[in-house]
Amino acid sequence: MSTVIQKPLDHQPPSLPPTQSVRLTINSQESHFTVAPWTTLLDALREHLDLTGTKKGCDHGQCGACTVLIDGKRINSCLTLAVMRDGADITTIEGLGTPENLSPLQQAFIDHDAFQCGYCTPGQICSAQGLLNEGKAKTEAEVRELMSGNLCRCGAYPNILSAIMEVMDKDGLIMDTKEWSAGGAKPEMDPINS
Ligand code: FES
Ligand code: FES
Repeated sequence: MSTVIQKPLDHQPPSLPPTQSVRLTINSQESHFTVAPWTTLLDALREHLDLTGTKKGCDHGQCGACTVLIDGKRINSCLTLAVMRDGADITTIEGLGTPENLSPLQQAFIDHDAFQCGYCTPGQICSAQGLLNEGKAKTEAEVRELMSGNLCRCGAYPNILSAIMEVMDKDGLIMDTKEWSAGGAKPEMDPINS
């Protein structure tokens, strides 16, 4: 049996600084703060900046509850480090609208009763906003596919879909209006993950 002999290091391993400074523009406000380099963007938002609208579900990129927009694109904030986003422009659910002036998606989620416990809702709305920004979805099937990264444990999928479809329809983004008529009854469909 051979033995592997590890050569000793000829230098000291670099020591990580306990904190690193980060500058982010969050909901149009600039923030400077220091975090440990391994802090996720999600933890930075919730624990350092008190923006608790963004939710932690799985912390592993599986549920979409932590979705925020970076430079207009949706991202799971649990899968990126705050220090990697230095200088980025971030929008969270708190930045999409205000209680007095809700964004169209926020209003549609209320109008369509698109939540039960509400835990997934900030991520669903931010993800839907990202979907609108991307401009790729033109049909109900494409909306279902492109929203499939956002799970809802309460199973509010038909109502979530109705809310998103209504906003898309108002914006003239739906190609096949026969497939779903905005303002009509809830679409007949199985839950996305059935
Ligand atoms: S908490 Fe980030 S995907 Fe679930
Ligand atoms: S509304 Fe409860 S998890 Fe979606």
